Amino acid sequence: MKNLKQYIQENRDRFIDELFEILKIPSISADPKYKEDVLKCAELVKNKLIISGAENVKLCQTDGYPIVYADKIIDKNLPTVLVYGHYDVQPPDPIELWDNPPFEPYIKKTDSHPHGAIFARGACDDKGQFYMHLKAFEYMLKTDNLACNIKFMIEGEEEVGSENLSDFLIKNKQKLSCDVILISDTGIISNEIPSITTGLRGLTYLEVEVTGPNRDLHSGLYGGAVANPINILCEMIAKLKNDKNQITIPGFYDNVDILSENERSEINSAPFSEIDYKKALDLKDIHGEEGYTTMERAGIRPTLDVNGIWGGYTGEGAKTVIPSKAFAKISMRLVPNQTDDEITKKFTDYFSNIAPDSVSVNVKPHHGGTPYVSPTDTIEYLSASEAIAETFGKKPVPVRGGGSIPIVALFEKELGVKSILLGFGLDSDAIHSPNEHYGIFNYLKGIETITLFFKNYAEKF
Ligand code: BES
Ligand code: MN
Ligand code: MN
Repeated sequence: MKNLKQYIQENRDRFIDELFEILKIPSISADPKYKEDVLKCAELVKNKLIISGAENVKLCQTDGYPIVYADKIIDKNLPTVLVYGHYDVQPPDPIELWDNPPFEPYIKKTDSHPHGAIFARGACDDKGQFYMHLKAFEYMLKTDNLACNIKFMIEGEEEVGSENLSDFLIKNKQKLSCDVILISDTGIISNEIPSITTGLRGLTYLEVEVTGPNRDLHSGLYGGAVANPINILCEMIAKLKNDKNQITIPGFYDNVDILSENERSEINSAPFSEIDYKKALDLKDIHGEEGYTTMERAGIRPTLDVNGIWGGYTGEGAKTVIPSKAFAKISMRLVPNQTDDEITKKFTDYFSNIAPDSVSVNVKPHHGGTPYVSPTDTIEYLSASEAIAETFGKKPVPVRGGGSIPIVALFEKELGVKSILLGFGLDSDAIHSPNEHYGIFNYLKGIETITLFFKNYAEKF
């Protein structure tokens, strides 16, 4: 690999230009208005796989957006690495908070990225991260350094729950068979403190609708005498947590995996500064479940959050009205042994129970996902850990991540294969937020690290 660094430096500008092309397409899976763009993005990813040297490149149709598949099988006695990523992105809203349009990528320096960062929706989540794999592959192929078989599976519905994927996995077990799954869709603590994500939380996402009177009413004529569904919804939401910030849904914690003191102290030994954490978010104080640290709250404990709430009049000026309906979108992050079906049921029962007779309640489940934990004593993990140690000059810290990638648990269930979460984003990269960006240092280091992963893995296999 002696020319690896040199190859990356020489091709740096082209690597960035190619990524820019992908970032220019608004592949927003949540919004049907962007259907053509999502499809166009799948087509472009397909072309990029072809120019990078992959074979059998095709768009696999699903009931939703297509999955881009490609491979390069060099020797069936070698290990096979399946690379997973997603080409869809989150909506850019609130659009007015972006310094530049979200689909017109540009480079700017930041405090965390003194060498510059690429600003665009999807720069870090996940276009910039999955594209590192195509360029690592390009290098390995061109320089005769490819030491493993490789399969690519880049999907277009991750940000909306990957609902068509379990079907695809079940029907394509043979095609997707592999020894390890490699995913860059997570982050590291910082460029000075590299880490590997060793767990993901699961997710239950639902929408609630509270109905009061059968039509919007004059708030003077009826005010005080009928239930206002917005007021009631707020009271009900307030009842979902107690003053210790514990979730009050009966049985919510029943199956939660309780970690040993050893495991907890390992989690808390990862470098973390509460002062910096608060400063980065402009917060006077942190907040969360009593008895747990911030690292624990954001990694190994389940949560409940309102993601959006609406109803009534929100336009210009004032309108005196008691609305007929109020709505909220609520998500719960789950930890090992909790299941999405179990929690959806417990939430629905409780939410219906606490509703007064003056309103009616409807709970609509959206999507879910199962939590995931990866071991740290496997050749897969060691291959990743040693690759990072070499490229970053420091052994990575294992960290249980708070986010969710629903496919990871499905891969384990359907293919029986574990995933390695080799992501390079920073918390400050603002994924899902305005001004999302991805460090150029991280982009190039990622390409280098991924290449070394393949080398290490082939040697250890
Ligand atoms: N890449 C993220 C998940 C992530 C980010 C995990 C950072 C760990 C660290 C992924 O694209 C994502 O946003 N997932 C969603 C879940 C999905 C079902 C909408 C999430 O976690 O909210
Ligand atoms: Mn992602
Ligand atoms: Mn995401």
